[in-house]
Amino acid sequence: MRGKGRILLIPGDGVGPEVSEAALRVLEAVEGRYRLGLEVRRAEAGDSAARRHGSPLPGWVEDLALHWADAVLKGPVGETAGEVVVPLRRMLGAYANVRPARSLVPSRCWGRVDLVIVRENLEDVYYGVEYVVGDTAFALKVSSRAGAARVARVAGLYASRRRGRVTIVHKANVLKLADGMFRREAGKVLAGMGVEYDEMYVDAAAMMLARNPSRFDVVLTMNQYGDILSDLAAEVAGGIGLAPSANVGDGKALFEPVHGAAWDIAGKGVANPTAMILAVAMMLEWMGHAEAGATVARAVEEAYRRGYTTPDVGGSMGTMEMASKIAGMVESGV
Ligand code: IPM
Ligand code: MN
Repeated sequence: MRGKGRILLIPGDGVGPEVSEAALRVLEAVEGRYRLGLEVRRAEAGDSAARRHGSPLPGWVEDLALHWADAVLKGPVGETAGEVVVPLRRMLGAYANVRPARSLVPSRCWGRVDLVIVRENLEDVYYGVEYVVGDTAFALKVSSRAGAARVARVAGLYASRRRGRVTIVHKANVLKLADGMFRREAGKVLAGMGVEYDEMYVDAAAMMLARNPSRFDVVLTMNQYGDILSDLAAEVAGGIGLAPSANVGDGKALFEPVHGAAWDIAGKGVANPTAMILAVAMMLEWMGHAEAGATVARAVEEAYRRGYTTPDVGGSMGTMEMASKIAGMVESGV
């Protein structure tokens, strides 16, 4: 059987095309060194696709994602992000959003941060049912037993490869049924896996992330809480420009930076490509190319040690210059 190697690249908007070129440079280096037979096809989605094709997620892109690709590598998208990434996650059945927050340079305030947020990715208020009755708008929060169980399994697996501890984050003191079901089912699954866990209300978890992030190993939470907490965790770990994510399920997967289109710096060649390159590392590992993935991650760490970074983290390199340094280390071995 063919190994996983078909990558659908969606560059996106704003700094998306720049960080995507950076990712491609690193992928070329990986191919040069490991000869994995990776194939990359480009597709267009987002604001520019909406302008050019009349839809932020054109049908041909959906077809490629569903029928051609093994994995989708997506840059940040602008105003239409919600109309691109939410349907893509649903279409691919990517029910777990894995968001590591790991510092590459220890921070003066928080030291070395190393935690993973595992965010439920298809339910909650992202289920997509909103309606208006008279003067009142309603948004449905959906929380199923199966949805909680499957994402809890992912969190349990991560924990068993890490420090072995999951914190289930919810707000079951108010949302007794929806969050109550999530915490109960997730707890059952983790107990069944023999994984140690505790629980925290989401407001307290936000406070604790700011006060003492090393208190956490794996944070397992619902979709919207995970959206908010993962920005906070990324910032605490060194900046949102460094944070990658993997949207995984039982079939295909989608890899993307946590950050957005960053219009203020778009086109200037200074965007930090780290999140996108670390998304490539996660993608390679998921594809079964663990060694290549680890090499990319190590090359990024080494770039930070040597100060080969962009201005947002105190360096003076441009996007492609930093990517070329990382690619060079991948090629020559780190
Ligand atoms: C993210 C983004 C998306 C989300 C938006 C663009 C729909 O903020 O990936 O965190 O809310 O999931
Ligand atoms: Mn977000």
